[in-house]
Amino acid sequence: MGIQEKSETNVFWLIVLVVLVVSVGGIVQIVPLFYQRSTTEAVAGLEPYTALQLAGRDIYQAEGCMGCHSQHIRPFRAETERYGHYSVAGEFVYDHPFLWSSKRTGPDLARVGGRYSDEWHRVHLINPRDVVPESIMPGYPWLEDNLLDGETITMHMRALRTIGVPYSEEDIAGAAAAVEGKTEMDAVIAYLQGLGVHVKLRR
Ligand code: HEC
Repeated sequence: MGIQEKSETNVFWLIVLVVLVVSVGGIVQIVPLFYQRSTTEAVAGLEPYTALQLAGRDIYQAEGCMGCHSQHIRPFRAETERYGHYSVAGEFVYDHPFLWSSKRTGPDLARVGGRYSDEWHRVHLINPRDVVPESIMPGYPWLEDNLLDGETITMHMRALRTIGVPYSEEDIAGAAAAVEGKTEMDAVIAYLQGLGVHVKLRR
């Protein structure tokens, strides 16, 4: 019995060979990405999230915003015309975890920073229909009521530093003071206003 026949009639060998082929294909595609500058180095001008933005990012995840919003612009005309320059890998090197998402019930938010005023976001997040009458986005009025916790964000920044986000001692020491008295609303808005703005790419 030749190799071909054996692998097609014996489930064990079929599985072994399929795993082998898929692994080689995967390794060839994925491993080089860990060593390419374009995927591992921050684009010029990218800064780690400030304490307030990082707190906002945590709330973005806790509230499940990524269930309706993606954060990556694909290199297609229809997307770049609407959202701006397509996303590049170096924009995401400080993102742990990535919040790319794949669901677009609402618009992509990768470059929403600076598109609206802070006040627009505040009104929109409390009740989206006050600014976009046909919106189906839920309101998040409680974000105004909840204060941030300095200790949590300090620990979060410390943890991120252990996996390579370049926070300095001063950044971490100043984190609690930076979020003192701020609400979850302030944090989410600071986060949104920072999305995609570090990268000055051609629109
Ligand atoms: C059920 C789906 C849904 C969820 C969950 C959701 N959104 Fe939205 N979002 C939308 C839709 C639809 C729009 C477009 C209409 C509008 O502007 O309200 C939108 C619009 C937006 C916009 C304006 C984008 C632009 O370019 O005009 C922002 C900013 C935004 N959402 C932020 C958030 C944040 C932050 C959260 C989590 C706290 C969130 N959304 C949760 C559906 C959602």
